[in-house]
Amino acid sequence: MAIRFEDIKEFIGSRVLWDDRADLFTAEAAKLIRAKVEERTVLVFPQVNLTDAEQLTITNAMGEKIRLTARNNVQSNDGDVYQVTLDEKINPQPEYVLGTFFWHMDGITVDMPPPFATLLSCRIAPDKGGETEFASTYAAYEGLPNEEKEALEGLKAVHSVRASLSPIADAIPEKHRERVLSIGLVKEHPLVWTHESGRKSMVVGTTADHIIGMNVPAGRAMLIRLQEWAAQPAFSLRHKWTQGDFVIWDNTGAMHRAIPYDKSTGRMMHRTSIAGTEAVAA
Ligand SMILES: [Fe+2]
Repeated sequence: MAIRFEDIKEFIGSRVLWDDRADLFTAEAAKLIRAKVEERTVLVFPQVNLTDAEQLTITNAMGEKIRLTARNNVQSNDGDVYQVTLDEKINPQPEYVLGTFFWHMDGITVDMPPPFATLLSCRIAPDKGGETEFASTYAAYEGLPNEEKEALEGLKAVHSVRASLSPIADAIPEKHRERVLSIGLVKEHPLVWTHESGRKSMVVGTTADHIIGMNVPAGRAMLIRLQEWAAQPAFSLRHKWTQGDFVIWDNTGAMHRAIPYDKSTGRMMHRTSIAGTEAVAA
């Protein structure tokens, strides 16, 4: 077989193995990889050392490539591959990257279906910090007791970048705080996403501000409880980056966050995104 997969944890994560590196770039491989991402949420390609051109080949073979951040107009670094870095010479709004320290789904506050997948190549691995954590919101939903699943039926939450950045709002320089906090739209999403496949996941994370029709303290407490539930070790995976690692995850069935790292580590990730094909639906 050209490429193989081995499970990392019971409910989340597979490692990709190959004999011949060229086998990763075929149309057949793209199909297998896409299906495995949907099944296992996170795929790790250890030290595969992709060039940008190779990352774009895999991205384009798996679906429709989109440029998430250019649409939000948050940075000038909007070539074919987005550079995730705290270096303000490359990324003029590093506060936006600081928001990645908190559990979130990508593209949940823009006016299009959330991206299906995010793809990250590690160009410079930090010595300290900078791991990425993933939590399967499919496994988290599946694992809820039945009465809790029933209690979530029909509930909707309001999401915003402002909510996800609220823990660091006072650390953003005042002169552009309001502009950063106003990135994106304020969007309502059902707490439980019934996908076209019939599978269900939860739409949670720090972008979720409150639950519609519920008083704010009770709604926030529920959102935090659900986020903690999804992030429990059984449903989550922490990836410690080695230079050259490449990771693809299903953004429609996972929250993710980065462990804080310092700019001096030089951490540098090259990111591409694949368009989602369905809007969040109850
Ligand atoms: Fe992200």
